[in-house]
Amino acid sequence: MSEPVGIGFIGAGEISLLHAKAVQQIPGAKLIGLWNRTTERATQRAAAYGCKRYDTPEDLVADPAIQAVFVLTDLDTHLQYARLALEAGKHVLVEKPLAATVADIVEMKAISERTGLVCVPGHNMIHEASLARARMMIQNGDLGKIVSCYVMYNIHHSEERASTLPGMVRHILTHNLYTMMYLVGRPTRVSAMKAMRHYDKLDKEDLAMVILGLECGGIAHLCASFAADDLSADPWTFVVKVIGTAGTTRYTYQDWVEAKKGISHSRVYTAYQETITNEDRYFVDVCLKGGQPLSTLEDAIVAQKVVEAVEKSIAEGITVAIE
Ligand SMILES: NC(=O)c1ccc[n+]([C@@H]2O[C@H](COP(=O)([O-])OP(=O)(O)OC[C@H]3O[C@@H](n4cnc5c(N)ncnc54)[C@H](O)[C@@H]3O)[C@@H](O)[C@H]2O)c1
Repeated sequence: MSEPVGIGFIGAGEISLLHAKAVQQIPGAKLIGLWNRTTERATQRAAAYGCKRYDTPEDLVADPAIQAVFVLTDLDTHLQYARLALEAGKHVLVEKPLAATVADIVEMKAISERTGLVCVPGHNMIHEASLARARMMIQNGDLGKIVSCYVMYNIHHSEERASTLPGMVRHILTHNLYTMMYLVGRPTRVSAMKAMRHYDKLDKEDLAMVILGLECGGIAHLCASFAADDLSADPWTFVVKVIGTAGTTRYTYQDWVEAKKGISHSRVYTAYQETITNEDRYFVDVCLKGGQPLSTLEDAIVAQKVVEAVEKSIAEGITVAIE
């Protein structure tokens, strides 16, 4: 039996709660320690996770007990910490969205290639068995020609929780986009709108919708909303649907709901934690052993290009081609 892979967290916010639970469930991994910008939270989370607390991110990446670093900080700092870890010889998993600009992700990819170390996007939503089956059916031609793809997210988040996150275009549409690409491929053009429906003070969108023309010839519709839960009989909480000329496939969070409060959600959607656990297991058991991620840095670059095209479409009220 080989030793478990030592993991370090840079950043110990809300998402670290899910990764800590995930790592605990993976026999091939062990959480060694964490660093967080504010010491109070670092101390509290290190005690909760039963791991070390480092005074600086430099101390963390210098520890030989750590072989891989999870970058779990704010979007704007992802490149900085991914670079720090890679240059120190550590593999990295970087939370989505990978970085603030396409150029930043291109740079991250170049550092990963130069150092020969693994750098994997935290594209968790596709780490789900039924989406793997959907992809296989699509690739085998079992659904015929792709007509349409829907990735719809409607989960209420409080204004307080939303205050530390970007708006829906960057924060949630990124999930919709890599999920769509995993199933039906890349888009060629986008047309988007955004709105603000439930925030009192925050000046960012809590709703965004996009229509995309796809390279395969079909059309996709993506929705990202923190504005309200969908309380209807067949809710679009997080729903993925692909309709083809020869068949249809669907996946929904609503197939597994626990009647208790989730970390940021009004209910526990069991599949959410599962996707993070599956993602972290895949990182350790497959990516660190030379296997390709389900969604690559190249996919993250395309997703970010589309995010920037969505922003342009919203700002100028036009349909934008994806270069
Ligand atoms: N995969 C998912 O489903 C999912 C869900 C939520 C968040 N995320 C991503 O995880 C990351 C963290 O989000 P969160 O929900 O934990 O947010 P959070 O607000 O709870 O925590 C953010 C963390 O980043 C740190 N931070 C902020 N600015 C920093 C700076 N300049 N330097 C160093 N540290 C800084 C904070 O101290 C905090 O620990 C974000 O990139 C977010 O997009 C992913």
